[in-house]
Amino acid sequence: MSIQELHPFKGRKYTNLKDSFDLSGRVYLITGSGGYLGVRHAEAVLEANGIPVINDIHEDRIESTLSQLKGRFGDRPILGLQADITSKPQVDAMVQKTVAALGRLDGLINNAAKNPKMIGEIDNELTRFENLPLEQWLEDLAVGLTGAFLCAQACGREMARRGGGVIVNVSSDLGIIAPDQRVYLKPGQNPGEQAYKPVSYSVVKGGLVMLTAYLATYWAERNIRVNTLTPASVYNGQDWALVQNISERVPLGRMSHPDEFKGALVFLLSDASSYMTGHNLILDGGRSVW
Ligand SMILES: NC(=O)c1ccc[n+]([C@@H]2O[C@H](COP(=O)([O-])OP(=O)(O)OC[C@H]3O[C@@H](n4cnc5c(N)ncnc54)[C@H](O)[C@@H]3O)[C@@H](O)[C@H]2O)c1
Repeated sequence: MSIQELHPFKGRKYTNLKDSFDLSGRVYLITGSGGYLGVRHAEAVLEANGIPVINDIHEDRIESTLSQLKGRFGDRPILGLQADITSKPQVDAMVQKTVAALGRLDGLINNAAKNPKMIGEIDNELTRFENLPLEQWLEDLAVGLTGAFLCAQACGREMARRGGGVIVNVSSDLGIIAPDQRVYLKPGQNPGEQAYKPVSYSVVKGGLVMLTAYLATYWAERNIRVNTLTPASVYNGQDWALVQNISERVPLGRMSHPDEFKGALVFLLSDASSYMTGHNLILDGGRSVW
């Protein structure tokens, strides 16, 4: 008896390498895709011929993402769905609307998170561990972890019913290493007055790595693959001192461009990674190796 007869492969039969990366006709729900990286994830899905569902809590961000994508991809099908992913009824309704509108669901990208810019948006004193407000801790965990849990539950249930799918949890280098808080010290600033990356961010991003491990084993028998994508050090016009501080800690010597995660995402979503589950694909320029 051949290995194929003993353990039949449940995915599409391999024809050639290019086709194994193709997402034609497949539907992927991307949470928080009105944000900086989420729109790139949607572009990646479209570039691989798939159909993205743009979710965000902010309607205006969905609208601007849709017009940006339509400008580039014309009349290709794209669905926009406003929902707060911390609300179970809203998440369940979003998944139902996706299937009603597009007839299927092939994947979920748990991308939404509270990710404050480290300059301007925050009160430095409140970012210190001793002072972090309970409300912020609860809100950060609600979006980053409870939201990912609710979306995985609703999408996974649908994909298990359909015979399979993929989940990608978007973590961060700060999900696998502690933040080096010295990078946030500005020239001339007294240590202690600087901003600190909040502990809630590390806990959320680390938690997603374990959500991946749990679900990868739990849903393997239902042909749902679950992996983590770990982007890091993404350039977004940060203060030059911060850019230099981070770049010094990256073996490749620079921050990343927001388009540099597209290839890895399509790999994880497609049949090209059909034997990969429970993995954390780290794109950090080597930062966590040092
Ligand atoms: N940008 C980076 O430097 C970087 C680096 C590593 C990892 N990441 C991760 O990548 C992901 C995207 O980061 P980003 O920089 O694009 O963040 P972003 O803040 O630009 O986008 C996040 C989006 O999530 C949305 N959102 C927040 N709460 C929501 C809710 N309750 N329901 C639905 N949507 C909600 C926001 O409106 C926003 O549009 C995050 O998980 C982040 O942790 C980012």
